[in-house]
Amino acid sequence: MKSIMFYVNKGGVGKSTLSVLFAWYLRRQNQRVLFIDFDPQASATNILQDYKASPVEYAIRTIRPAIELFTPQSRIFSSGQSATAFDLLSGKDIRTPPTDYLPFVDAIDAIPPGTYDYIVVDSQVAYGTLVEASGLFCENILLPYKPGKSEFDALDRTFNFVTEFNALRVNMGMRALNHCGVAVTDFDNKSQQQTYLDMARTKYPRMLLEPELRHSNLIQATNNASVPPWLGLGNGQFYKNRDTILRLMEEIRERIL
Ligand SMILES: Nc1ncnc2c1ncn2[C@@H]1O[C@H](COP(=O)(O)OP(=O)(O)OP(=O)(O)O)[C@@H](O)[C@H]1O
Ligand SMILES: [Mg+2]
Repeated sequence: MKSIMFYVNKGGVGKSTLSVLFAWYLRRQNQRVLFIDFDPQASATNILQDYKASPVEYAIRTIRPAIELFTPQSRIFSSGQSATAFDLLSGKDIRTPPTDYLPFVDAIDAIPPGTYDYIVVDSQVAYGTLVEASGLFCENILLPYKPGKSEFDALDRTFNFVTEFNALRVNMGMRALNHCGVAVTDFDNKSQQQTYLDMARTKYPRMLLEPELRHSNLIQATNNASVPPWLGLGNGQFYKNRDTILRLMEEIRERIL
């Protein structure tokens, strides 16, 4: 079972969008996916809940068998629409993040081997229990980067957190988290963005993934329509950047250990 968290200590850079795309991509490759939305804002859950396309093969599995199969026909929560995160780990409600992350790590450890091929975690921006839990039970991390000043600083902060996770992990006899790289999102070619893109390339050589995802690809493809972009539903917009997105997803998958 491979696992990856999408995390950077900066809001609105594409963590949820990328993690949902990646989960969809894995389903497309016939992989069994456990998607964990660890953000009380539940953006990823909302995208998944709105999913309107019909093919059941895109179903995302969640952790608790009772309500685990998420299909276009079923709701994650029996209560219907409520925009809570996947609060399915041992029935815990993560709207108020717990102070102790070990129950989450234990819950993941307790999943029988072979149940899933991949665990995909969308993290909340604030550093806290849920991020720490992910840093312990995930084996891989990917950092989204929307080129800009504060986002550039956030990369450093996040690498520092990873160093802290790793000290803890090594203490616990685990191997260090594998960096899958930095994925550039929402890049619009403006000169200031180009400057920060170049700075990141210089500072983190070989860490920036190709291709970049550019403005409007993903909003249209996922958040508005709530369908995986490669389904090509609706107008040509969905097809437009499909190959780019698929190449990026493939790139991420190849880097997962
Ligand atoms: N590659 C992209 N191109 C254009 N817009 C994007 C891209 N990725 C994300 N967005 C848009 O940017 C906004 C923030 O994206 P998203 O919710 O994925 O970020 P996040 O990092 O998860 O945010 P949060 O910190 O709130 O959890 C959304 O409106 C989304 O549609
Ligand atoms: Mg998010």
